Formats: sequence, structure tokens, C-alpha cells
Amino acid sequence: MTSYHISVLLNESLESLNIRPSGFYIDCTLGEAGHSIEILKKLNKEGLLLSIDQDNEAIQFVTQKYERNLEQSSWILRQGNFASLKKVLVGIDRKPDGILMDLGISSRQLALEGRGFSYQNETDPLDMRMDDELKVLATDLLNVLSEKQLTKLFYEYGEERYAPRIAKAIKASTNGIKTVGDLTSLIYKVVPATARRGDSHHPARRGFQALRIAVNDELGALKQGLEESFELLNSQGRLVVITFHSLEDRIVKTYFKSLGTQVKLLVEGQPPTEEEVKLNKRAHSAKLRVIEKI
Ligand SMILES: C[S@@+](CC[C@H](N)C(=O)[O-])C[C@H]1O[C@@H](n2cnc3c(N)ncnc32)[C@H](O)[C@@H]1O
Repeated sequence: MTSYHISVLLNESLESLNIRPSGFYIDCTLGEAGHSIEILKKLNKEGLLLSIDQDNEAIQFVTQKYERNLEQSSWILRQGNFASLKKVLVGIDRKPDGILMDLGISSRQLALEGRGFSYQNETDPLDMRMDDELKVLATDLLNVLSEKQLTKLFYEYGEERYAPRIAKAIKASTNGIKTVGDLTSLIYKVVPATARRGDSHHPARRGFQALRIAVNDELGALKQGLEESFELLNSQGRLVVITFHSLEDRIVKTYFKSLGTQVKLLVEGQPPTEEEVKLNKRAHSAKLRVIEKI
């Protein structure tokens, strides 16, 4: 069973949760359970951890890998979206003392073939759904949205400066865009040569981010998830969020500020250490934000 993901800001987020051994904690973004397993180690028999992920593959992977840990009654896994956290919690009659969100996708989702998340898996269909119950794939968006709507999508969710020419080329493509390779080669062709050189990032990176955010309604889910989390938290409970790009970070920062005197702002955009970024490139854009409910 291959693991791909290296947890980001692991020590910092664990410390921020301020775990009480008999408390109840929710990991909203299980992934490969890097954070969950460390939370679990700090709990005693009265403690409880609920870990959720909208991706069934993540639930299945962790169920197999950590079969023995799951025999303990203190760890529950559920498939679900943190946007509907209250619904996912049904049957658990406790108030959480800490909630963790480690946003975005995992290296596992990027690495596994067939999902369409990575611009490196060229033959993948352009799917990009984290939850396979969702009905709209990335390729559907490219087909259904107008040039104007696609331009807006690439601008807003990818902060992609070449949004208009990418959208125009997609709509002009006669064979349609079906695979990852179709989209990466189209973007490569339409961006100026300067955008293809010198930067360590692929010119399709922003476009892929934009489509992924739209397919999974990531920003809508984040807004709803933050609100539900705050309502659910026990007093003195902590909400710990790791963001990976400015769109996510802005939403978390604004929401935390809007809570005013109902919370203490404990951590306001802490980046990882240089050592962590050296070991894990994916950590470079991460930021930690933490509040405590009063
Ligand atoms: C960055 S990974 C988490 C990695 C994990 N902390 C670890 O250390 O192994 C993010 C995970 O959150 C899940 N996810 C993203 N948005 C979600 C949402 N709205 N509801 C539930 N899970 C979500 C993704 O499917 C992915 O598995």
C-alpha cells in the first residue's frame, strides 16, 4: 500500500489543537491520516476522534492501512463533506473541543492515475471530482460554460492572467478537450513563450487549480464548513485551518476577523519553517490560522 502524502505544518497544527486526552476532536480532511494518527496518539479511552473526507478512496485507503488503530473505539471514519459537518456528525452526541481543516488536495489524489488532478498524468480523463457522487466533471465545465464564463472561472479561481486566451482556445477547439494532455498542450500553445520558461511552475498550474476549485465548489464548502465548525465548537474549543493559496486564506482570515469578540485569534497566517519547505515543496504556500472560541 503506497503512501504519497507528507503532512504539512504537522507539529504546529497539533500544538494549536491543544489536545485534552479525553476530548473530542474532528479532522475534517483525513487524506492519508497524517494528522489524524498523531491526534489519536494523544487521546485516552474517553477521548474521541472523528475523521472525515469527501473522497471515498481516502476512507478506503486509511481503513485498510490503519485497520488495527480503527479497532479502538476512539477513532471513527466517515465519508462526507465538511460543508455539512452537522449532518456528518449525526449520532455523535458530543461537542468538539478542536476541529482541523488541512485544505486542498493530497499528494495521493495528485499521484493516483485516473483522477485528472495532475497535469502530469496526460492520459487521465479531465475528471477532478474529489467525491465521485458529484455529477459535474471538469470536462463538462469546459463543454458547457461559455467563453465569458470560462474566462471568469480562470481569473477568479486561478488568478490566471491569460484567462481570456485560454478560454477562447478551449471554445475554438474542434475536437473538444477530454484529457489532461488535451488541456495542458492547449494551454502550452496559447500562453506567451515567457510564461513557459524560467518558472518552476507548469503554465497549466493555475488553470488546473481553477477547474478543481470549481468542480468541487471548494470555496463555497470552506465558507460553510467554517461557519458550521464555529457553531459546533465547545467554548475554549480551537479551530485550526491550513490554507494553500490566497483565495482560501482570504476566506479564513475574513471569517475569523468577522467573529470579533466571540473568539481569540491565536495564530494569524503562520508559514512553515524553511526546513519544512526544503523537505516538502508542497508546504511552500501553506499558512496556519487558529482561533479559540470564547
Ligand atoms: C491536504 S489533504 C489532507 C491530508 C491529511 N491532513 C494528511 O496529513 O494525510 C486534504 C484532504 O481533504 C479532503 N477534502 C477537501 N475538501 C473537503 C471537503 N469539503 N470535505 C471533506 N473532505 C475534503 C480531500 O479529499 C483530501 O483528501
